[in-house]
Amino acid sequence: MAEQFKGQPRLPKFAVPKRYDVSLKPDLAACKFAGSVAIDLDIVSDTNFIVLNAAELAVDAATVSFSHKNSSEVFKPLKAETFEEDGILVLEFGETLPTGPGVLAIGFEGILNDKMKGFYRSTYEHNGEKKNMAVTQFEPVDARRCFPCWDEPAWKATFKITLDGVPSELVALSNMPVVEEKVDGHLKTVSYQETPIMSTYLVAVVVGLFDYVEDHTSDGVKVRVYCQVGKANQGKLALNVAVKTLELYQEYFAVPYPLPKLDMVAIPDFSAGAMENYGLVTYRETALLFDEQHSAAANKQRVATVVAHELAHQWFGNLVTMEWWTHLWLNEGFATWVSYLAADSLFPEWKIWTQFLDESTEGLRLDGLEESHPIEVEINHACEVDEIFDAISYRKGASVIRMLQSYLGAEPFQRSLASYIKKHAYSNAKTEDLWAALEEGSGEPVNKLMNSWTKQQGYPVVSVKVKDQKLEFEQTQFLSSGSEGTGQWIVPITLCCGSYDVRKSFLLQTKSESLDVKEFLGCSVAETGSTCNKNNGQCGWIKLNVDRAGFYRVKYDDELAAQLRNAIEKKYLSATDRYGILDDAAALTTARKQSFVSLLTLLGAYKEELDYTVLSNLITVSYKLKRIADDAVPELVDLLNQFFIGLLQYPAEKLGWQPKPGESHLDAMLRGELLTALASFGHDLTIDEAIRRFNAFSDDRNTSLLPPDIRRAAYVAVMQRVTASNRSGYESLLRVYRETDLSQEKTRILGSLASCPDPDIILEVLNFLLTKEVRSQDAVFGLAVGSEGRETAWTWLKNNWEHISKTWGSGFLITRFVSATVSHFASLDKVKEVDEFFKAHPNTAITRTLKQSIERVKINAKWVESIQGEKNLADAVTELAYRKY
Ligand code: BES
Ligand code: ZN
Repeated sequence: MAEQFKGQPRLPKFAVPKRYDVSLKPDLAACKFAGSVAIDLDIVSDTNFIVLNAAELAVDAATVSFSHKNSSEVFKPLKAETFEEDGILVLEFGETLPTGPGVLAIGFEGILNDKMKGFYRSTYEHNGEKKNMAVTQFEPVDARRCFPCWDEPAWKATFKITLDGVPSELVALSNMPVVEEKVDGHLKTVSYQETPIMSTYLVAVVVGLFDYVEDHTSDGVKVRVYCQVGKANQGKLALNVAVKTLELYQEYFAVPYPLPKLDMVAIPDFSAGAMENYGLVTYRETALLFDEQHSAAANKQRVATVVAHELAHQWFGNLVTMEWWTHLWLNEGFATWVSYLAADSLFPEWKIWTQFLDESTEGLRLDGLEESHPIEVEINHACEVDEIFDAISYRKGASVIRMLQSYLGAEPFQRSLASYIKKHAYSNAKTEDLWAALEEGSGEPVNKLMNSWTKQQGYPVVSVKVKDQKLEFEQTQFLSSGSEGTGQWIVPITLCCGSYDVRKSFLLQTKSESLDVKEFLGCSVAETGSTCNKNNGQCGWIKLNVDRAGFYRVKYDDELAAQLRNAIEKKYLSATDRYGILDDAAALTTARKQSFVSLLTLLGAYKEELDYTVLSNLITVSYKLKRIADDAVPELVDLLNQFFIGLLQYPAEKLGWQPKPGESHLDAMLRGELLTALASFGHDLTIDEAIRRFNAFSDDRNTSLLPPDIRRAAYVAVMQRVTASNRSGYESLLRVYRETDLSQEKTRILGSLASCPDPDIILEVLNFLLTKEVRSQDAVFGLAVGSEGRETAWTWLKNNWEHISKTWGSGFLITRFVSATVSHFASLDKVKEVDEFFKAHPNTAITRTLKQSIERVKINAKWVESIQGEKNLADAVTELAYRKY
């Protein structure tokens, strides 16, 4: 009978939980906990069963009881059965439970696990002694590992939490402020105010040793940042950002922050980047702490954007929650988008909306696969949820919001959002609820427009050409494989012609449409008072998807493309447009819609580029071209390296090695990326200089020769020269790794080690990742091997798969092992090999990722073949490599 509840996507609706009284007693030394929960609930239909969630908990059947509010009768279940695969606890009663309010009580025990989910332990050192802390991570479906509950976002309830048996010297935190603390000898019992109504995945507790810094918002919300003992100063940046961001969101959403306090805590072992638990946000150390002396500008930006993201959730996610995981993107896409709004307001000099393009690019990259999924994705089982915290939910989600906001305008957009928040506060919402609010607030057909973007996967490439004084537009689904998909969208087309003052926009609602250019130019001439030909002499270029605000790509005919290339060289175009042209061209080349050489030629137009975001994308594209060339035309790789080095000379010389007094945040980040790229492309002068500076750093960690912004570059440079017989650079790096207690420094080093071209060293590095010296949260950073290490990494993955899937197999980090080691291959033989291996070693946690990685290998394989078929490639590359800039 109880079997009938197995394999269901959602819990049955016999009972509705209203209030949880949870008591937990963690034992940090023995790594286990005991607990009890009393759940106020309403039985809403006659039933013999109560079905709720529980996983890896030992439920003591003798403690389970159900009693009705208005009678003294106590019901004991005949059976209390857990089905681990589904994470459910089925209580079967001997008689039908009458409808109405009652209390369900359950006692249980569990393990403080080391898997960074549920109720788990994290470790740290204090006065040279190793210690445990107890932490929770419940999203998406792991509250059930801490206490039995209705663990779905729509079952909102209030939570009254008590922590028992806590060593009295420790800090014990939960979502709400403490109401009572009773000390009994060395132990204390801490109880917290009851929370407002909220979802289970947002409940949290943290027990450990911490210092903190504190501030408050203008309306008195107390904000604290908790850090390792002795490091409270590193919390100041996040604290400052948090206070300002809370004030900003309060105004933007037109609803005050709903809780009396906000705590933010750095957790040494943490699988995601951060988690927005209501009133108790937890972070990886790298995403919360900032060291004035040793953190880089990129670290600062990371801290600020992660804080802004998690605080956005306090409204978008916590106050108004998605009804089901299908609408996860509402949480994540929206928080991602809003975090840019906050960062832009706090740090306008970061030009964060230009940097936002990297979000879109990653979204477009994943969504160009046939194995992508719609933003609103069907979820049929808890085990499917982890894998959709991906670039579709976050980045495509954020990008379609940006597209919509720029279509509707900032003011109606904000106004409608505020009314959405107000309407659904303390409740749940679906995607169409958001569209309804925006439709009402703007008078535009938002639902119809947006359904085409959230209910079907993929996106269009809009081809544009000039014919008979007309511009012709045609949309087809873009696929990186080069195939043509069948999707169609309502595309907000924007274009500029010859000047940013001459604009036009319309909705492309059909497959193709044309626009009379004469009329278009005529009308804009009237507006600008100049004639097209005299438009600062810039006339001729036409740029679609202005500022790349739309989630689509553009393919220009040859003539338009040549004019845009010219406009880039002449510096007529904005950074966002320069970025878009480059990124679209790179994607079209991968899909074999454009030749390899034509992309290289376009890259040449960026020789005087100085914008951080554009150059950073150009570098990413160059890495990819180098990788594919390693397979396709190994004999040309040296020339290509020379070409890429030539391209980066101009900005690199402008920036030099040493930070300039008062220089911008973006220049500081750019210098690091440029030098890293030059080192990776084998530029000897850069490598020599980097090693010289690294040696100085190795002797003195406070030397001014190696500021944090260029450390990664130096580490990569050092690793370029390491071989099995020349290991000293590697050993020195390991020494820095071991001696630092700054997690950002450790990550920087891990991210550089595998860039070594020597396979023996790479194997050593990969094995190092599996040792106790690398926290399991960090191992994936060390997987960034180049072409030389690809085969080594794959063999290593296969040899260690059992251990890896045991250690990382129950979270989303495992997916990174697969994508990092598999997706860069470029042959059908490898497709077969990978496929066979994972058929023999199935793992449901990687289902989507594996399909996506294999698709990438197939795409690479086809691309290699087409590059090999390109005529005159060697001549063209030679010419480009020797061109003097
Ligand atoms: N809600 C997520 C945390 C999360 C991620 C829980 C995956 C469960 C699975 C949080 O709000 C988040 O999105 N964190 C990001 C950082 C953010 C700045 C993009 C992360 O963890 O990477
Ligand atoms: Zn988030």
